[in-house]
Amino acid sequence: MIIIRKAVSGDAEATISININTWISAYKGIINDDTLDGLADNKENRIEKFKAEFGTREVRGNLIEYIVAIDDSIDGQPVIGFASYGVSRDESFLNVDDYFEIYALYVSEEHQNRGVGRKLATYVMDQMKGNEDDKRLLIWTLEKNRSRSFYEKLGGKVQFDKEIKINGQSLNEVGYVF
Ligand SMILES: CC(C)(COP(=O)(O)OP(=O)(O)OC[C@H]1O[C@@H](n2cnc3c(N)ncnc32)[C@H](O)[C@@H]1OP(=O)(O)O)[C@@H](O)C(=O)NCCC(=O)NCCS
Repeated sequence: MIIIRKAVSGDAEATISININTWISAYKGIINDDTLDGLADNKENRIEKFKAEFGTREVRGNLIEYIVAIDDSIDGQPVIGFASYGVSRDESFLNVDDYFEIYALYVSEEHQNRGVGRKLATYVMDQMKGNEDDKRLLIWTLEKNRSRSFYEKLGGKVQFDKEIKINGQSLNEVGYVF
């Protein structure tokens, strides 16, 4: 059974591993190899940083929430996906008070297409339901991301685009609104 629960600091290693491994598999040929190689090389540092900052990272004074997907049939390391979310970050060109944002949503490669991503996204949407200001949910993803149909299946519509830099590489992102 797949269970979605709030992350705890003990999930740091599994979460960062999924983050790094899915970047490498999903973004090969999109993000420069040097950047992707660097991620794997710095894995230990990233785990320590994530643990140290766990439960304290904020966007404009609001805590970032982390959730994980657990497959309870797996012994040992059952974390197979995670998401982080909170208030919108894009002060420069949209009214941030109108949006919540999923900052990251990743499912480990061997567990993709089992409905885990949908469960994580639905959990976040349920948390946001009934919010006083009727905010919408925003998710940014690379324009060239091969998984964009996932957001479309969930009912997202592209409403924004922007250019970002990752280690000096210019990339376009699109913003799906739900
Ligand atoms: C994108 C991602 C989060 C989706 O999670 P997932 O658990 O594999 O997706 P689900 O099994 O919940 O799929 C939900 C629906 O989206 C569809 N879908 C998922 N990935 C898809 C893809 N790459 N292409 C087309 N459709 C896709 C599924 O077919 C499913 O449709 P259905 O409900 O009609 O059957 C996951 O595959 C992933 O982490 N990918 C690599 C990294 C990435 O791109 N993350 C997003 C960064 S912003």
